[in-house]
Amino acid sequence: MDGGKPYVPFPWQAEHIHSKSDIQFLIGACGRRSGKTTAADAEVNREVFKDPVTVLGKTHAPLIYIVGPTAELAMRVWQPIWDAFVPDEQREHIPPFGNLYKDHDKSRGIIWLKNGATIQRKSADDPKSLQGERVTFAVVDEAHSMPEDAWQYLLPAFMDSGGRLMAIGIPKGKNRFRSMWELGQKKQPGYYSFSVPSTAHPLITATEKEAVALREAGYETARALEHDPAYLTLSDIEQKQQYWAEWVEQDGAVFKNIDQCFTGEWVTAENANGVNVMGLDVARIHDYTVAYIGDVGEERIIARDRYTGLGWTVQAPRIAKMYRDYKCRFIHMDATGVGDVLASFLRVEGCSVIDYKFTNASKEMLISALAREVERGQVILPKDDLDLKREMELFEATVQPGGSVVKYSAPAGYFDDCVISAALLTYKMAKNRGMAKSPNGEPYVKFENTTPAKRAMDKIREAREKKLGEIEVAV
Ligand SMILES: Nc1ncnc2c1ncn2[C@@H]1O[C@H](COP(=O)(O)OP(=O)(O)OP(=O)(O)O)[C@@H](O)[C@H]1O
Ligand SMILES: [Mg+2]
Repeated sequence: MDGGKPYVPFPWQAEHIHSKSDIQFLIGACGRRSGKTTAADAEVNREVFKDPVTVLGKTHAPLIYIVGPTAELAMRVWQPIWDAFVPDEQREHIPPFGNLYKDHDKSRGIIWLKNGATIQRKSADDPKSLQGERVTFAVVDEAHSMPEDAWQYLLPAFMDSGGRLMAIGIPKGKNRFRSMWELGQKKQPGYYSFSVPSTAHPLITATEKEAVALREAGYETARALEHDPAYLTLSDIEQKQQYWAEWVEQDGAVFKNIDQCFTGEWVTAENANGVNVMGLDVARIHDYTVAYIGDVGEERIIARDRYTGLGWTVQAPRIAKMYRDYKCRFIHMDATGVGDVLASFLRVEGCSVIDYKFTNASKEMLISALAREVERGQVILPKDDLDLKREMELFEATVQPGGSVVKYSAPAGYFDDCVISAALLTYKMAKNRGMAKSPNGEPYVKFENTTPAKRAMDKIREAREKKLGEIEVAV
C-alpha cells in the first residue's frame, strides 16, 4: 500500500485489529505514529468485499463511513482509500482495487463500487451528516477529538444495521472515546479495546541504542524517541498520553515537582551580568501586571515587578526602566487585547518587544513548556516568590464539556498572572539557552557602553529617569 508496497501488518495491527473483525465496537487508544490510520485503511479495504446482508427482506451492500473530527483529519484516512480505488482522470493508472471502481463524487467524498458497496467521507464539522443510514462499517480516526454531539448522531446507526465501529485515537480526554474504551476493558459484550505505545511500530524505539542497532541491520528509517524533536518538546504528561498510550488524568494540577525549582535568589540589576530577557503579562480588569527577568544562560528567574491599578502612561516607563536596568535583550509579552496598547508604549520607550498572541492552543503550548521545564528541574525560580509558587500549585487543566479541549487557568477567583509571565519568560529561556554562552563560557553579547550612539542614548535615559524618580522594583 505504502509507496506501492503490499501491506504487511505489524504484529500489533494483526493482533488487535485484523483478527478482531467479529467485534462490533473496536476501540484503540494508541501512541502517535504506531500505525493506527494505516491499519484502519486496511480494514476498510477488507470490509468492502463483504457480502451484502439481507435484513427484513431488504438487501444491503456495504456502506462504509470514514469519519474524522474535522474534514482535514478525515482526509488522512480518506486519501489512501481514494488512491486505492479511484483511477486518475485519464484512466492511465489503475489503482490496486481499480477493477472494483464504478463512480465517485470528489467534492462530497463518495466512492461507489461495482459490488454495490459505498465508501463515504464524513466529519464532525457537520455532525448531522453522520446520522441515519445503515452503516455497515465506520472508521473514526482521531476519535479522542470527536465532540459528543457527533457521537450522538453517529452511534444510533449501528443499532439497526449491526454494523461495526472502529474508533482509533490517542488516550486523551474524558469523553465518549474514553468511556467506550473503558467498556472494552470491562469486557462488555460487543466491545474490545486495547492500547499500544508508539514503540509498537517496529522502527520506533525508545532509545538511540536500539535505533542504531536497527539501522545497522539495514532498517535505515529506525528512529529513537529520545532523539525525536516532536517527542522532546512535550511535557511528561503529554509524552505519556501521546507516545506511551497511557490515560493520564488531566483534571488537576499542571505543574509537578515544583519545590525542586524554587531554589533561586533575587538578583539586583548591578549583579545581573548574564544575558537577560523579560516575560510580561499585562493586567486585564482586576488582576496584576507581572514582569519577570530571567538569565537565559542559567535558565533562572532573577527579578520581578508586580503591581495593579496603574495606567499605561505610568506602566510603560516603569517596565522600560526595569528592562534597561537589567539590560534586557527583549520583552516576550502577551500582546492580545489591552497588551497591544502597552506593547506600543514600550516600543516608544525603546524596548524590543516580541508579541505572543494568546489563543487556547497557544496558551496550552506556553504552559506545557513551563510544566516541562519545572518537572525536569531545568528552570530555577526565586525561592521567595511565594505568589508564583501558590499560583503554580493551584493552576489547573480542565477538560471542557464534551471533549478533549483542555483549558488551562487558575481556579475561579485566583490569579494566574505570575504563571503566565513566568511561562512567557521560560518559554524563551528554554529556546535560547544554547545561545547565551559561547562554548568557552563567555557571553556572546556584552553590554558595554562603548559606542558614541549608546552613550548618547544613555544620557537621554538618565535624564528621563531622573524625572520619573526612583521606582521601586521588587527584587
Ligand atoms: N504495516 C505497516 N507496514 C509498513 N509501514 C507501516 C505499517 N503501518 C504503518 N506504517 C507506516 O508507519 C507510519 C505511521 O503510520 P500511521 O500514519 O498509520 O500511524 P498513526 O498511528 O495513525 O499516526 P498518527 O498518530 O500520526 O496519526 C506511516 O509512515 C505508515 O506508512
Ligand atoms: Mg493517524
